[in-house]
Amino acid sequence: MEVKILPIQEIYNEIANKIVKLVAQKPNAILGLATGGTAVGVYDALVKAYNDKKITFKDVKTFNLDEYYPIEDSNPQSYRYYMNHNLFDKVDIDKNNTHFPSIDNYQKYDELIAIAGGIDFQVLGIGSNGHIAFNEPGTPFDSLTHVVKLAESTIQDNARFFNGDISLVPTQAISMGLKSIMFTKQIVLIATGKNKAKAIKQLMDQEPNPALPASILRSHANVTIYLDPDAASLLC
Ligand code: GLP
Repeated sequence: MEVKILPIQEIYNEIANKIVKLVAQKPNAILGLATGGTAVGVYDALVKAYNDKKITFKDVKTFNLDEYYPIEDSNPQSYRYYMNHNLFDKVDIDKNNTHFPSIDNYQKYDELIAIAGGIDFQVLGIGSNGHIAFNEPGTPFDSLTHVVKLAESTIQDNARFFNGDISLVPTQAISMGLKSIMFTKQIVLIATGKNKAKAIKQLMDQEPNPALPASILRSHANVTIYLDPDAASLLC
């Protein structure tokens, strides 16, 4: 795992530049996308690159990591809505090429990704409890896309997007599994803010173990961890 500590905007620009370069080399690249507050800056930087005519998404395919369940696509807190609002509606991507796991497709989601050619570049965030996508602590390392019961801490963390009202946060989600994520060819994980510092410290200190889902990334051959100074604040 390579670790880079940078100011937030530099993290966003560097990751967007990596995607611009990848798509220049491979116009039909497959992107694995994350949601959450952290990833918004990556999409802003990609929209800017698109407006500056540095990238076209015409032939790009995307697979999102996760989605709440149950939730309507039209709910502003759904991850489909988030992606449309932050990226898809602002660039030239064909929405038929954008995919989300759902209750209807989750048993075939990994096959769908494999048939498309596999994810070339995966963007990840991390939960304060060390989850990646919605793989909560205890998720088996050999998990594929599955239905998840959200951890209490995740419901609390994400209530900020639901007017701070815990009762409005769905209690379940559909998520790519840890094994699904390990199949991706290149991974960038972004962590910003002090509330991620403990999970990041654990990630650096611990051998892979299901109590800290992100620790599986230590066994992946091509991972870069991007930290802002706050998320890195507990590292020596
Ligand atoms: C959320 C999402 C993850 C995301 C993570 C961090 O619950 N399921 O995909 O990466 O937790 O979110 P945030 O960036 O808002 O802190």
